[in-house]
Amino acid sequence: MAAHVAERLHQALEDGGVLGLATGRTMEPVYAALRQRLLALPKPQRELLLRQWRSFNLDEYVGLGPDHPQSFAAFMQRQLAGPLQIERGSLAIPHGLALDADAEARRYSAAVVAAGGVDLQLLGLGSNGHVGFNEPPCSEAEPCRCLTLSPATRQQNAEAFGGDPAAVPARAITLGTAEILAARRLLLVVTGAAKAGILRRALLEPPCPEVPASWLQRHPRLEVVVDLAAAAQLELS
Ligand code: GLP
Repeated sequence: MAAHVAERLHQALEDGGVLGLATGRTMEPVYAALRQRLLALPKPQRELLLRQWRSFNLDEYVGLGPDHPQSFAAFMQRQLAGPLQIERGSLAIPHGLALDADAEARRYSAAVVAAGGVDLQLLGLGSNGHVGFNEPPCSEAEPCRCLTLSPATRQQNAEAFGGDPAAVPARAITLGTAEILAARRLLLVVTGAAKAGILRRALLEPPCPEVPASWLQRHPRLEVVVDLAAAAQLELS
C-alpha cells in the first residue's frame, strides 16, 4: 500500500505537480516508502527532482512552531525535508505561531491559489470522519480557517502528547473542504480496523456534514487506498 502511494507521489513530482500533503500515523509508512524510492534514484536525477518540489500541508496546530516536536512542521521535517534535504521553503505549512491565526488561514489559502492549486492531494481519515482538521459538522465548501478541535480528535491525537488529550492544542488551522475538493486529484489512504466503520460511512452513505470525508465522493478523481482491515465493511449490501 505504502509503496503504491509513494509511486503516485513520485509520479506527480516527475510531472512537476504541486503536492498536497498530510500528517498522521497512516502517512509514516507512506513517507518511508517515498524516501526509499527517491533515495534510490541516481543523485543528479534526485537533486533535480527535489529542487522542483512544491507542496502544501493540510494543517497545523495553533500555538506550535516548527521547533516543537509535535508540530506538523516538525513531523514533515523528520519524515521528508530532513532526510531528503529538501529546501525548507518548498514544503509549505500553516504557521502555527502566527499572531493572527485567522489571517494566517487566509494567507495560506491564497498561497495555494497563487501556486496554481494542488495537483495531487494526499489525505488520511480521522476516526470521527475528519479530513485535514475539518471537524464535523462541516459543509462541502468550508474555506481554509482556524477552528476548535473536537474532544474526539484531541483524544485520537493524544498519543503524541504523552497520552494526555488536554495536552493536545485546542485549535488548528486547516485547509477546508473547499480547497481539498479543488485539488485536481485526491488520494485517500486509510488503514486499520478502527477506521472500517467511518470509512464505510464516508464512501457508501450519502454525503453529509457529520462525516466531512463523505464530501470526497463528489470529487471526480478520488482514489482510495485501503488495507483489508479498513476495507472490512465496504461490501455493498
Ligand atoms: C490527524 C490529521 C489528519 C489525519 C488524521 C488521521 O489529526 N489532521 O490529516 O489524516 O488525523 O491520523 P492518523 O493517520 O494518525 O490516524
